[in-house]
Formats: sequence, C-alpha cells, structure tokens
Amino acid sequence: MQGNRVELDTFNPAMIARPHAFYAELREKMPIVFIPQLDAWVLTRYEDVREVLRDHVQWSSARGDRQTPMRNGVQLESVAPPGTLTMLGADRPDHTRLRKLLAMDFTPNRIGHLAPHVASIANRLLDSAGDEFDVVDTLSVPLPVTMIAELLGIPPELGAQFKRWSDAAIEPMHPDAPADDVRARNAEIVAFRAYLQEQIHQRHEEPTDDFIGRLVAAHDEEEKLNDDELLGAVNLLLLAGNETTTNLISNAVLALCRFPERQTELVENPDLMDAAIEEFLRYDGSVQFTARTAMSPATFHGQQVEEGQTVAVFIASGNRDPRVFERPDELDFHRPKAKHLGFGDWIHICIGQFLARMETKAALSALLERFAPFELAIAEEEIPYRANFNLRGPLHLPIRRC
Ligand code: HEM
Repeated sequence: MQGNRVELDTFNPAMIARPHAFYAELREKMPIVFIPQLDAWVLTRYEDVREVLRDHVQWSSARGDRQTPMRNGVQLESVAPPGTLTMLGADRPDHTRLRKLLAMDFTPNRIGHLAPHVASIANRLLDSAGDEFDVVDTLSVPLPVTMIAELLGIPPELGAQFKRWSDAAIEPMHPDAPADDVRARNAEIVAFRAYLQEQIHQRHEEPTDDFIGRLVAAHDEEEKLNDDELLGAVNLLLLAGNETTTNLISNAVLALCRFPERQTELVENPDLMDAAIEEFLRYDGSVQFTARTAMSPATFHGQQVEEGQTVAVFIASGNRDPRVFERPDELDFHRPKAKHLGFGDWIHICIGQFLARMETKAALSALLERFAPFELAIAEEEIPYRANFNLRGPLHLPIRRC
C-alpha cells in the first residue's frame, strides 16, 4: 500500500481464494483508494457502497464502451456489439424501458410457482452423488444452467455447451494471455452469438411464450428494443443468472463446512433457511464489486473523485463491515435485520433475486436433507477457485458425508 494507491492482482489465485483480509485492511486504513488494475477508485465501507448504489443520478451505470479491449494484438469479441445498451449498463430512461420488459417475469409470484420444479431438479441432480462428490459439478453448475435455459426456452440438453459459452463470455482474460487462447475464446463467443441469433430468428418466424419469445414480441410488435438490445438482453439474462448463482450455492456449502454447527441448526430447524440464505449472501455472496461513473466531482473521506472517473464499490466488503454487522466474519442466521448488499440496491437491484434465492434454497435443502452432516473432502487451502476475482467461487468443492 502506498499513498492513496494500492496494487491488486486480480489474477492472483491466493487473492481470489481469500480476499477478506485485504478488504478489512482497506476498510480500516484506506476507505477510498485507487486501484490501477481496475482503473477505479475503490470504496469498501458499507455506507459508502450503499450511498453510491442508491444515487443513480450522480453515479452512472452507462459505460458506453465502443471498443472491446485487445489481448496480445487480438481484439476480444463480444456477444452483442460493443456499446449495446442493456439494463445493467444503462441509466434512466433507457434503464426503465429495458427493465420493464422483463420485470413481470421475475416477480416473486411468477417465480414462486417454480419452487417444486426447482426442488425436483436439485434432488435429481443429487441422485448421482455417492458418499463423496464435487458440489460444483454435481449441483451448483447444472441447477442454474438448467433453470435459465428452461426459462429462456433453450433445450436444457445444451447445458454443458452453454456453460462453456457462458464461461468464455464471463471469465476475464489475463492481460498477457497468449494470442491462441484469445482466438479460442473468441471462437466460443462467435458460436454463442450465432446460436442466440438463430434462437431469436426462430421466434420472429414462430412466436413462443418463453423469455426470448416475449423479448422478440416486444421488438416486433411494439419496437420497444432494437436488434442489438434484443441480443444484449438475452445474453445478459444468460450470463447474469448463471455464474452468480453457481457461486452463491458453492460458497454457502463451503461456509456450512466451516461452521458445521450451522448445518445442525438448519437440519433441526428448516424454517431458518430463508434467513440463512440472506446470511450466505452477506457472508460470502458471489459478486465482489460493481462499478459506476461519476457524473460530477464527489468527495469521500477527503479524496475527490473527478467527473468521468470510475468508482468500484466493493459489495462483498461492505457486507463484512463491522460498523454495520457485529462479528462480521461469523455465520449467524439470527442477525437483526440489517440489509446486505449482495444483490446490489435501488434501481439496478438484481432482477433475478427471487429466482436465485429459490435455486439456492432448493440446492441447500436437498443437500442437507440427504447428506448432512458433511465436511470438506480436501483441506480448505487446496480448494481451486475460478480465475474470476469479481464473480468468485470454487472451481471444485469436494465434500463427503461425515
Ligand atoms: C446469487 C445470485 C445472484 C447474485 C449474487 C446477483 C447479483 C447482482 C447484483 C449485485 C446486481 C447489481 C449490479 C449493479 O448494480 O451494477 C445484479 C443485477 C442484475 N442481475 Fe443478478 N445476481 C444473481 C442472480 C441473478 C439471476 C438468477 C438473474 C437472472 C436470471 C440475474 C439477473 C440480473 C440482471 C438482469 C441484473 C441487472 C439489473 C438492472 O440493472 O436493473 N441475477 N445482480
């Protein structure tokens, strides 16, 4: 650490596996700091994170990048053309227009009736598990992929292919990645785009009542979004709902291995599950940070952020801020209501939150019912993580019955 600048190697496996000590140090010593690897001012305290998330006028979500970055002389492909508006990367009024198209599909009511179906998928996935198995491959990856594919109207048999495309689209490319790796990734993205375009094309010809079908109808009948925005919206739903939920399930299972008495508590009192899921989102949610651009100068702790500069608000750090959460590093299902920021806040708050909660609940309930008490089958330090600092979670998580 030096002055108001700190280096953060977002590709360092040890940092990806254990970021919380770093967050705690920043929170206490440098509540605003410039991190060159993110090209952003970083905020780590709960109140600061929340303030930025709740002021969408001062803090813009519109990035408007017209170009994707280069790696070793090769331009990175993107699924929708760079600069395409999606609700995640738009401000009002575009944000309202794009979010409204899908808001009705994600209400607790619309999502709620899926609960028995999601529970049956979780149970079916666990049928193949022996006394020792990898939670990630068996449960946390296939459950969200199957669900989002079904909702969008894509054959669930394509699950594995889908996961490959989604990984390629979401995993950051190291600045020194060899050109051949970049080309291989680009080929996946091009195939993914072609597949989505084909799905959209089919629905122009023959309307359907799935998510893609309804977006296509909004495009064709009411011109509520243009061609690129249509592709961007389908792509966003696929990506936003996959890795995040996978990682929340895996991080929650890891937390239950760290605190085995919490497994007993949930087995004895399954009604605690809803509170437990909020605590998993607080304790080790899957999104580390999100970014905003300053629309005018602003000051935090004496440091000015200039108009046009980026701030990265560290949700995962705010959720462990001892100013707001007592004993923040403990897993406690009986916390007084203090709102975690695991799904963000305000106008961009996660549209898929009810679906994500339901999937996590189905996965954990089935796991606890059939396998508790369970423990890690390898030492915690040996757990491999995905090479993604922001959407962090284990690549594999072997557990066994105790
Ligand atoms: C545990 C799982 C999930 C977590 C932790 C999570 C987290 C988040 C966060 C933090 C945001 C706010 C980003 C920002 O303000 O910049 C967000 C937005 C969003 N999420 Fe999720 N998400 C999850 C699951 C899902 C699912 C299942 C879907 C859809 C199927 C989804 C779709 C979206 C979309 C479309 C947005 C943009 C909303 C907007 O900008 O208005 N997410 N999510």
